[in-house]
Amino acid sequence: MNKKLWGGRFKKQTDKLFAEFSKSIGYDYKLGSYDVLGSMIHVEVLSKAGFLSKEEAKKLHSAFDGIYKSIEDNKFKFDKTCEDIHTNIHNLLEKKVGKLVLKLHAARSRNDQVVFATKMYSKIEILKLLVDLQKLVNQLIKTGIKNSSVVIPGFTHMQHAQPVYLKDYLGAYGEMFTRDVKRLKNIEANIAICLGAGALAGTPIDASIYKTKLEEVIKKAKFDVNFNMKAVSNVSNSLDAVSDRDFVIEIISALSIVAMHLSRIAEDFIIWSTKEFGFIDLDDAFATGSSLMPQKKNPDSLELIRGSCAKIYGNLVNVLVMMKGLPLTYNRDMQLDKQPLFNSFEVITDEIKIITGVIKSVKFNKDKIQEHLNDESLYATDLVYFLVKKGIPFTYAHETIGKLICYSIENNLSIKDMPQSVLNKFSTKLIKKEIVKIFDPLGSVKSKISIKRRR
Ligand code: ARG
Repeated sequence: MNKKLWGGRFKKQTDKLFAEFSKSIGYDYKLGSYDVLGSMIHVEVLSKAGFLSKEEAKKLHSAFDGIYKSIEDNKFKFDKTCEDIHTNIHNLLEKKVGKLVLKLHAARSRNDQVVFATKMYSKIEILKLLVDLQKLVNQLIKTGIKNSSVVIPGFTHMQHAQPVYLKDYLGAYGEMFTRDVKRLKNIEANIAICLGAGALAGTPIDASIYKTKLEEVIKKAKFDVNFNMKAVSNVSNSLDAVSDRDFVIEIISALSIVAMHLSRIAEDFIIWSTKEFGFIDLDDAFATGSSLMPQKKNPDSLELIRGSCAKIYGNLVNVLVMMKGLPLTYNRDMQLDKQPLFNSFEVITDEIKIITGVIKSVKFNKDKIQEHLNDESLYATDLVYFLVKKGIPFTYAHETIGKLICYSIENNLSIKDMPQSVLNKFSTKLIKKEIVKIFDPLGSVKSKISIKRRR
């Protein structure tokens, strides 16, 4: 039977169902290594403040080193009978150091512990995610460069609009994910790591000890990513320190934007992979088949990315609603921030890796794209510019070409095949010899010189 951290005041056992209902160990075990790190800092703080002897601190440190290593090596056996990860580690420590564990909880509360561990987790996960996001941006650029002369029809309202470079199309997503990188970097930098809030009112230990020990221990810890030491701070308001979950909301809202970007590129690729469009061939590795129809190659990877956006938005609303109306300071409701936070990181991390694989392996069907580019309406705006350059006012030129397009559709006659006499009915400036050159995808994109590409 595991021990609670708060049994003294109670005469009766906790109701069995409620005990199960209140547990967070099933998910907050993911905070294990950060909780141990917080405990290592706390040992240093207590020892410097004279609450622990040097010998006692040494004994606790060696026990925590062992627990930390076993978590890192995936050898730690989480005890699912415990209320939460903090209790689990505390109980295990008792087995290792006996009664000495009773001194450890001086001047600390799980309210402070949990926010420390969640912030550490968040920072590390953001830094890991940034690496994957950057790889995605690099892949978009790489695929763009590999197809640098490929032009595709650009769409507005899902209707043929004007030709655009494929590299610009992919680059547009590159811009979005680059903004995501910046957004997440800012959020990470703003997450202040502190200890010393106690349950809510601070502790009788000097603030400078907390800051120094936090810095010392975190500096020594080895993370897979570079930890931003500027984020270590003093507790400036202990009530806020234990009850602030803004950082969770900020992270999930930034991840919601990432999810939206992922969903949009997934949607574009799903459309492009249809027979009707046929712009792309998805690699077999990212498609699935049908159990009934043998011919099917379905873009399930992309559909699941599009669909999973709902999970992230749901997670955001989940935490926003959970926090709304909570009185200061810590309330147990806040335990419920973890699953949405963890889930958001996990889903987005997988999605970014999958979409990077999709983009790396996708094949562009140049012939099929060319068929779409043969649609003369894509060059209607270029025809307008042609007339404008000949001195015709824009709106008049727009109307002229509108009528020409309408005539072409109604008579099923391509503009390129119209004799000069027909063209003259619309404008004598539409000189056949000159306008036939306009229906050129590459010429069309090259004529747009207002763009100063960053890459
Ligand atoms: N498992 C709790 C959480 O995630 C830890 C804090 C519990 N504090 C308390 N006063 N009951 O929020």
